[in-house]
Amino acid sequence: MSPSLLMTDPAAYQVAYAINPWMDPSLWASADPENRRAARRAWAGLRAALEAAGAKILVMPGAEGAPDLVFPANAAVVLNGLAILAQFRAPERQVEEPHFAAAFARLRAKRVIADIATLPPGLVQEGAGDAIWDPVRQLIWAASGPRSSLEAPAEIGRLTGEAVVHMPLATARYYHLDTCFCPLSGGEILYYPPALSREAMAQLVAHTTADQRLEASDADAKAFCVNAVCLGRTIIMARPPARLAARLAERGYQVVGVDLDPFILSGGGAFCMTLRLDHRSAAASARTRPAA
Ligand code: ARG
Repeated sequence: MSPSLLMTDPAAYQVAYAINPWMDPSLWASADPENRRAARRAWAGLRAALEAAGAKILVMPGAEGAPDLVFPANAAVVLNGLAILAQFRAPERQVEEPHFAAAFARLRAKRVIADIATLPPGLVQEGAGDAIWDPVRQLIWAASGPRSSLEAPAEIGRLTGEAVVHMPLATARYYHLDTCFCPLSGGEILYYPPALSREAMAQLVAHTTADQRLEASDADAKAFCVNAVCLGRTIIMARPPARLAARLAERGYQVVGVDLDPFILSGGGAFCMTLRLDHRSAAASARTRPAA
């Protein structure tokens, strides 16, 4: 089955506030109509690259006044047909919650997902941005930090029933786990060491071999290349530094670079502009497989 990913129509996207160190509304406003056009082109380029890699893209509407709806990775943790709706830290993004709730209700009606769960009140958790499924290890790497509560990883474990590894983040600049940590299909993990806490580094070392750990450079992280979508042996990311593309090619990956500059202005890249809807654990697949 082809991988299916949710994206959000970018028509209402802009940088209108600053809730992370990448965002500068005045910089955006200084070239507003051009930036909006560039954003639409960049979004279409990403969609085309994902489709060329075999993905099926589902598009939900955007909404004026909620520009970061364009980052659906933050909307939910989706695994085994269950969508756990995010609860955002910033009031600027809390306005997105009803839009995403409605979108997931439609996806459930169309049977793209089976169930919707909500988190306990007061807990913040920003979806797949801070909870990344690792199909190779069959576990969820889940962060706490600027955008997700300390208790969020355990709660994600409880609701999904899957194994969770807690990865506390260390910096404001790499505020979501997906900005600094990317499991690849061959078992390697591309990660940016300065963004990980000591505890997170220890977890990474405990769950990987040295050969599986691919350190991203400052330039790779700054170019938002760690925020990548891996589909089989294809990795789709914001335009990579040549050295990163070459290192990944050596490992047998084909890197597709897309110009995502207008979204980097908001602190987002390829991974956060998408949300994988079809991830299933081996345990869940075994449960649903009809008995022979
Ligand atoms: N402006 C958005 C925010 O700060 C960008 C989110 C990007 N998403 C991500 N998973 N890194 O929330």
